[in-house]
Amino acid sequence: MERISNDALADAFIEEKIGELRAQIGDRKVLLALSGGVDSSVVAALLIRAIDKNLVCVHVNHGLLRKGESEQVIEVFRNQMKANLIYVDASDRFLDLLKDVTDPEEKRKIIGGEFIKVFAEEAAKLEGIQFLGQGTIYPDILESEKGIKAHHNVGGLPEELQFELVEPVKFLYKDEVRVVGKRLGLPESMVDRQPFPGPGLGVRCPGAITRERLEAVRESDAILREEFEKNGLAGKVWQYFTVVPPFKSTGIKDGERSFEWLVIIRAVNTKDAMAATIERIPYEILEKITARITSEVKGVNRVLYDLTPKPSATIEYE
Ligand code: XMP
Repeated sequence: MERISNDALADAFIEEKIGELRAQIGDRKVLLALSGGVDSSVVAALLIRAIDKNLVCVHVNHGLLRKGESEQVIEVFRNQMKANLIYVDASDRFLDLLKDVTDPEEKRKIIGGEFIKVFAEEAAKLEGIQFLGQGTIYPDILESEKGIKAHHNVGGLPEELQFELVEPVKFLYKDEVRVVGKRLGLPESMVDRQPFPGPGLGVRCPGAITRERLEAVRESDAILREEFEKNGLAGKVWQYFTVVPPFKSTGIKDGERSFEWLVIIRAVNTKDAMAATIERIPYEILEKITARITSEVKGVNRVLYDLTPKPSATIEYE
C-alpha cells in the first residue's frame, strides 16, 4: 500500500476507513481510552466521523500528565468535536498508591494496573458497549511480535473486558497517523506531539513521587516546551523534557541560603529510540530557560543540562 504522505492519500484513507468502521460497528457502541496522545486522538477523530455519539471516550487523568494536557483533550474533543467524553480525574488515587514507592518498575506496574482498574470501572458503568477502540499502530504490532516493547504501553487494555477490538490505524506508521490526524482537523500541537511515556511524569520524578516535586517537574517542563516552541526547536528536537531528582542542593535566594530541588534538562534526537544523540542547544536559550525555571518554579534553585547520549544513558531516567 502507498505510504500516506499527502492530503489526497489521507482523504482516501479516511473515506475508506469510515465505510469499514460503519460496516463493522453498525449502530452499536465503541469505548475508547483517550489519552490525548497522537494515536488515540486520531482513532477518536476517525470514530467520531464514522459513528458520532456511539463512540464513548474515557480520558483518565492519572495525575502524571503534562501541564494543560487534560484541558486540551476536553477542549478539542468535548467542546470542538462534540464527542461523548467522560473525564475522570483519578490523580489522588494514583498519587496515594505511589506514595513511598521508589522502584521504577514497581511504579510502572502500579500506574499501568491502576489505569486498567479505573478504565474498567468506567466501562462497568456504561451499558451496551460492544467494541473497544485502540490506537494500535504498525510499529506496535512489529515490536510486540519481537517482544521489544511489552512494558511500554500503559494503554494496553484489559483483555478481560471482553470487547471486540476496533483498531483503524493498525497498519499505519506514525508519520501516516499524523497526516491523517491533520486532515481530520486535529490541532498540530496534538498531532505533532513528541513521544510521551505512558507512566508520564512519574518516571521524570525519580524515586518516591511527592506532589511538591511532581509540580516542579510539571512547571519546568511547561517552561521548557514554551521556550522550545518560541525558539524553533520544538519541531526539530525529537524529545525534550525535565527531570527533578529526589535530593536538594544549596543555593541563594533573596540574599539568603536556600536548600532546594534541581532541574535537569534533557533534549535528545533519535530515529527509533534505540540510540540517541544530544541536541546542541544554543547557550543563550539554555541560559534563558535556566533563568525562567529558577525564578518561576517553586522550590528550585539550580538547573543542569544532561550531555549523555544513549547509550550509556537511556532517554528517560527510570
Ligand atoms: P528509554 O528511556 O528506554 O526510552 O531510552 C525510549 C523511549 O521510550 C519511552 N519510554 C516509555 N514509553 N512507557 C511508554 O509508553 C514507558 O514505560 C516508557 N519508558 C520509556 C521514552 O520516553 C522514549 O521515547
